[in-house]
Amino acid sequence: MKFYVTTPIYYPNDIPHLGHAYTTIAADVIARWHKLNGDDVFFLTGTDEHGIKLQEAAEKHGKAPKEFIDELIPKFKEYWKKLNINYDRFIRTTDADHKEVVQHIIKKSFENGDIYKGKYSGLYCKGCERFFLERELINGLCPDHKKKPEYMEEETYFFKLSKYQEKLLKYYEENPDFVSPDFRKHEIINRVKEGLEDVSITRTSFKWGIPFPLDDKHITYVWFDALTNYLTGVGYLKNKEMFEKYWPADVHVMAKDIVWFHAVLWPAMLFSAGIAPPKRVFGHGFWVCEGTKMSKTIGNVVSIEKLIEKGTDAARYFVLREVPFGQDGNYTKESFLNRYNGELANGLGNLAMRIVTLVKKYPIDMLKDRESKLKAITEKTLDNTTKYMNNYEFDKALSEIWLLITACDEYINATAPWKLAKENKQIELENVLYDLAETMRIISHLILPFIPESAEKIIDFMGYEREILKNLKWGKDYSPKKAKDEKMMPLFPKIESAN
Ligand code: MSP
Repeated sequence: MKFYVTTPIYYPNDIPHLGHAYTTIAADVIARWHKLNGDDVFFLTGTDEHGIKLQEAAEKHGKAPKEFIDELIPKFKEYWKKLNINYDRFIRTTDADHKEVVQHIIKKSFENGDIYKGKYSGLYCKGCERFFLERELINGLCPDHKKKPEYMEEETYFFKLSKYQEKLLKYYEENPDFVSPDFRKHEIINRVKEGLEDVSITRTSFKWGIPFPLDDKHITYVWFDALTNYLTGVGYLKNKEMFEKYWPADVHVMAKDIVWFHAVLWPAMLFSAGIAPPKRVFGHGFWVCEGTKMSKTIGNVVSIEKLIEKGTDAARYFVLREVPFGQDGNYTKESFLNRYNGELANGLGNLAMRIVTLVKKYPIDMLKDRESKLKAITEKTLDNTTKYMNNYEFDKALSEIWLLITACDEYINATAPWKLAKENKQIELENVLYDLAETMRIISHLILPFIPESAEKIIDFMGYEREILKNLKWGKDYSPKKAKDEKMMPLFPKIESAN
């Protein structure tokens, strides 16, 4: 099966932080999970480079927009590499193939009678790149940016979003998982039921954008340009075979701030252009730091440097274990420290070390499945983890795997294999070692999507063969001779403090 997953394309007006990293890690975990299932996966991320916000950020630095952005892109790529993000394409909306796609979609929509010229006057928030209705403001301020939107009046082209109200409602009804989690779906449905206004999709007040193909005085609205990246990314207009294979997207991952654009405007644009809508839009929550909204002014933005200071896997594990996917999260030093030491250093790290040491210490040629004490709980873990992963319940999947880690530790303590060896209880010893090696084989595969570096180290040290999930069944023979000869270093050395 194919699987196509995307992150939002981020504004490169600054370097990314914990919030952007979170979405990108989650999408990477989804991509790796599907690879583990043997799927043919395409994972797209990138940057949204047009619009007034970018133009102004560049001006502030005394640079041309493209020059300013070109300097930031390597930073994004470097951070994604450090976070072990395995994307297939990094799309930039300034890429040549993208411009062509945007202009094509606009023409198709126009031919379908969905674009008309008019005049817009209203309150515009540059941070959001959108007009606001008075009733949408809180105390006259943009609810997200807490700034007063500016009054703007301009000739503009509109997209007939209002025409798609019924069709959208029908689509939500027929595809109950389209907007996830459920509570976000209800919010969206209610807003669409209240009525949809046509959307202004061009600007004349600045130049940094894709020329509007129907009128060269106009620049394409940044959201109309940005959303279309998901088509460009899989070869729309350029590679028919690729596009037909991967489209529609299986899931667009993002935070709650931009679900409206993805769940309302985007499918309507696609309906208008005669293209199938995506299958799912997942809106996760927002991270704050030590209980306070991250802000440059306060100086409490969790940088990616800070996030990965204790290692890439620790960062990836922490963000997905700490918060149910969909809920808001709070980054605190204390919870990072506790999870790191409790669950990674003393949990997985310690268990992996114990098992690697045990199988190397007792020279047995081949361990075979006989009387297994851990088989039932391992099989249950495998089933439950699969169920949670398919629902994007990452915290539950991890907590399920960690229950098995604890069970293994207790099993080692209770059976004391070193005593069995001393007492020459060979059969019992072999049974225990087999159970442990086999359970660790399954654990190391289940953690691959989350903490790939550590998972691969365990697989490598134990000498397991990599499997796809449907072949990952209890009962394979294991030869301790396959375990690596060198000494394994602790996967997660204990730490005294976190940042
Ligand atoms: N360029 C648009 C997206 C276009 S997609 C066709 C945009 N860019 S953004 O740089 O502002 O990124 C927004 C996204 O960054 C959020 O949807 C989320 O994925 C991530 N996050 C940014 N701050 C965040 C938090 N504090 N917490 C969680 N995620 C956050 O919007």
